[in-house]
Amino acid sequence: MHIAVLAGDGIGQEIMVEALRVLGAMDLPNLCLDHADVGGVAYHKHGHPLPPETLELVQSADAVLFGAVGDPSCDNLERHLRPEQAVLGLRKQMQTFANLRPAKMFPGMEDASGLKPEIARSIDVVIVRELNGDVYFGEKGMRKTADGLREGYDVMSYDESEVRRIAHVAFKTAMGRDKRLCSVDKANVLETSQLWRDVVTELSSEYPEVELSHMYVDNAAMQLVRNPGQFDVVVTGNLFGDILSDQASMCVGSIGLLASASLGDGTKGLYEPIHGSAPDIAGQGIANPSAMILSAAMMLRHSFGMDAEADRIEAAVAAVLAQGVLGHDLGGTASTSEIGDAIVAQLTGG
Ligand code: NAD
Ligand code: IPM
Ligand code: MN
Repeated sequence: MHIAVLAGDGIGQEIMVEALRVLGAMDLPNLCLDHADVGGVAYHKHGHPLPPETLELVQSADAVLFGAVGDPSCDNLERHLRPEQAVLGLRKQMQTFANLRPAKMFPGMEDASGLKPEIARSIDVVIVRELNGDVYFGEKGMRKTADGLREGYDVMSYDESEVRRIAHVAFKTAMGRDKRLCSVDKANVLETSQLWRDVVTELSSEYPEVELSHMYVDNAAMQLVRNPGQFDVVVTGNLFGDILSDQASMCVGSIGLLASASLGDGTKGLYEPIHGSAPDIAGQGIANPSAMILSAAMMLRHSFGMDAEADRIEAAVAAVLAQGVLGHDLGGTASTSEIGDAIVAQLTGG
């Protein structure tokens, strides 16, 4: 198990320490960790957010554990040098086109949700976010209009093969769950979305057991807080998935609880919390490491087929939350390392 460890910027460094402690506590055979720089840290050291040494390590590894990138001191750099380009570049290089973002209520945490407890209790959704296309990767630029006004543009597009491969992942994910798939788009306005809807609908005949529905993204945002329990699996494009998953995190209680797996055709994956580098709290030791730890669990499950080990880590995180060991994001006082300590103790019976 050769893992590329890319902690990145801000709280990425702090939460990665705890995820590695948790992996260490699991006594995994053949665990080999190799660290490399990514994001603003890499830009400051090597002049590029995704340096060649980091890419080489990623190419030789079996899986990538990724913390977060983003550094306010880099916000005015040319776009290709900004930290965020590292995560976009990695996702594209690794062809991890399917980003699974599960959002499930942890027992006893209903009061931490932004929703009424009885509504919050019902959330158990996997957002399947397309990760290699959409407006993120279309032609973009700044230009002048005929009137001399500055104009920014970003082209949104999907071709049918891109929609088909993410739809297959979504239907298969639904087959392993409650067999309900909601495809979220903006087909009432966007041609990209009309194609998306057509292709997902065409594919549904290959998955007759899955109940397929379609929803416009504005309604989906509303329904997610009105009645999140109606969703089993949601499949959507890169931009809508980005936004809806942050929203889903607050239905669960905190963005510090949401993990993700970015997968391609093989078993090699990129595992990252859905949150960013949180510059507002970086360096204070108060970030919640749970999303990072749960991302490591997803790595064991999806890249190494270690379901039992992944289950153990997820159960330990849930148990620690149920014990009331809560970080600042959940209204508690536990520090990053105290949360890590509690999860390690839970795993080792200490
Ligand atoms: P963010 O997710 O970093 O933070 C949003 C808010 O949530 C902040 O108040 C932060 O303190 C809080 N938060 C996030 N993670 C937390 C955790 N684990 N524990 C407790 N609180 C947590 O989003 P942002 O502020 O919009 O972006 C900051 C930087 O991160 C930007 O540069 C952005 O581009 C980048 N970013 C990177 C990724 C990534 O690396 N995958 C994801 C999102 C944002
Ligand atoms: C995420 C982030 C990234 C995205 C940014 C940092 C490029 O918001 O992982 O959710 O938009 O995909
Ligand atoms: Mn995001």
